[in-house]
Amino acid sequence: MSKNEPLHAVAIGNIAVPRHVAIIMDGNGRWAESRGLPRAEGHRRGVEALRRTVRAAGDLGIGFLTIFSFSAENWSRPPSEIRELMALLRRFIRHDLADLHRNGVRVRVIGERENLDPDIRRLLDEAEQLTRENERLILVVAFNYGARQEIARAAQRMAAAVAAGDLAVSAVTADKLASCLDAPDLPDPDLIIRTSGEQRLSNFLLWQAAYSELVFVPTYWPDFERSTLENAIVEYCRRQRRFGGLVARTGS
Ligand code: FPP
Repeated sequence: MSKNEPLHAVAIGNIAVPRHVAIIMDGNGRWAESRGLPRAEGHRRGVEALRRTVRAAGDLGIGFLTIFSFSAENWSRPPSEIRELMALLRRFIRHDLADLHRNGVRVRVIGERENLDPDIRRLLDEAEQLTRENERLILVVAFNYGARQEIARAAQRMAAAVAAGDLAVSAVTADKLASCLDAPDLPDPDLIIRTSGEQRLSNFLLWQAAYSELVFVPTYWPDFERSTLENAIVEYCRRQRRFGGLVARTGS
């Protein structure tokens, strides 16, 4: 199957699932505030929604699930909230890694790792190493991730190759740039879901989203259920994808 083939060949009931689903998990703070709870509680409940979603994605036969866990812009939040999000990542990897591994989940990480605490880098490396042979579901964790930064990193890699005389200027193409992104072997997302009612990409997978279908759901992330995912997939299946051509390829 080529990189841009839209569909995974698995169908559950009468739902044909997309091969790669990416999620902007938004609304943790508003979920908490609407209940008079601290924002941190929203993030904690967000991790539970994440666990449910990983399980559902595996059961549905989704091949790749990318989650926006911490954006390059999230550093502008109050230090206490950043500490909480880092602590949640640590806890998620320490508590859930064995389970993910047992369930055939391979963890991949995209984003800038250089500026992260050394222990977080070690945990991310460990998760990737331990699960590298797994194939049931690829869970791509976008952590300290920004799409513009990722594209700039790819441009830097190409510029370095040009400067070293290893790459001709005429060989700087869209395909070449794509091959210099953080995880060039992954297929582009077929479906990007954003929760909480916001309708924008917020610097998430800007390159890879060129032909993705976008589905926006009003649900705050902590309330995201398997049924929310299934409904988004049903919506995706109604769409006709033409990839710039004239022939429609439906989501099914
Ligand atoms: C958006 O909610 C969510 C985030 C900034 C982080 C997403 C994090 C999790 C789901 C939990 C952590 C998981 C891992 C693996 C680290 P928001 O705070 O922007 O919500 P708001 O827009 O309502 O304020």
